[in-house]
Amino acid sequence: MPALSLPLSGAHHVGDTGPGGTRAVVDLLRTDGIATVGGLDSRTEVLAFAGRVMTLVPHRDSDADGLTTIQDIGRRSLRLGLSGLGAGELLAHTERSSVPWPPRLMLLVCLRPADRGGEVLLTDGRAVHAHLAVHAPQALEALAQPGTAFYGDGGGHTAQVFTRHPGGRASVRLRQDALAQFSPLVRRYLPDLTHAIGAAQRRAFLGPGQGYLIDNHRWLHARTAFTGRRVCLRALGTSRTLLPDGFAPQPVGQKDGDRPNHGRGTG
Ligand SMILES: [Fe+2]
Repeated sequence: MPALSLPLSGAHHVGDTGPGGTRAVVDLLRTDGIATVGGLDSRTEVLAFAGRVMTLVPHRDSDADGLTTIQDIGRRSLRLGLSGLGAGELLAHTERSSVPWPPRLMLLVCLRPADRGGEVLLTDGRAVHAHLAVHAPQALEALAQPGTAFYGDGGGHTAQVFTRHPGGRASVRLRQDALAQFSPLVRRYLPDLTHAIGAAQRRAFLGPGQGYLIDNHRWLHARTAFTGRRVCLRALGTSRTLLPDGFAPQPVGQKDGDRPNHGRGTG
């Protein structure tokens, strides 16, 4: 199924990435879990924007300023857990799914696009949840059973694809590479999950200075394989503004377009 495109100038887009645009970004994170941005043409600008919306959390691969340069590092990327630093396809995943508390926010900005490929594929976990609730409720129930997934190596984390929070909210946590294991209870429903992700996935081609900021507990990200010297910068961190746990699932029978508009950003 062809992915929908994610417009980089539509309702999710924040034109002002300066201090004046921070409110619009936070509003979008609260309602939609995503904001797209542009005009971040340098590492300094990316770092300044990231610092306005999050407290950066350093990563094994990050540089001294807290940003991680995402580019093809060659053969070393073939090691387990380093595929993000290769040129291959990455299936939909949560960033840092293998740690107890994956960072809430992730910003990815393109500095230099690939010669071919390297498109980003973004999937709203809320839409996946809604799709399963209608088309495969047994799958949704199984995927929410605690302790049915294990992400990472020996030091990884036991979790589940959907975590239910008090008050009816939910969050998603997924990886689909060699570092993901699922209990037999869940394995039979993985095709339903794959189908739901495919139905909700949106595709975007990031030009220089363009990027996306996602709620990493709601949106899954992926990438197509590429050729050329693609360079992106990534920031991971904690939101500077309090965000409630996870997302509010879509009531069964309600289409996404029916949802009230709570202060969408502009630009
Ligand atoms: Fe990633």
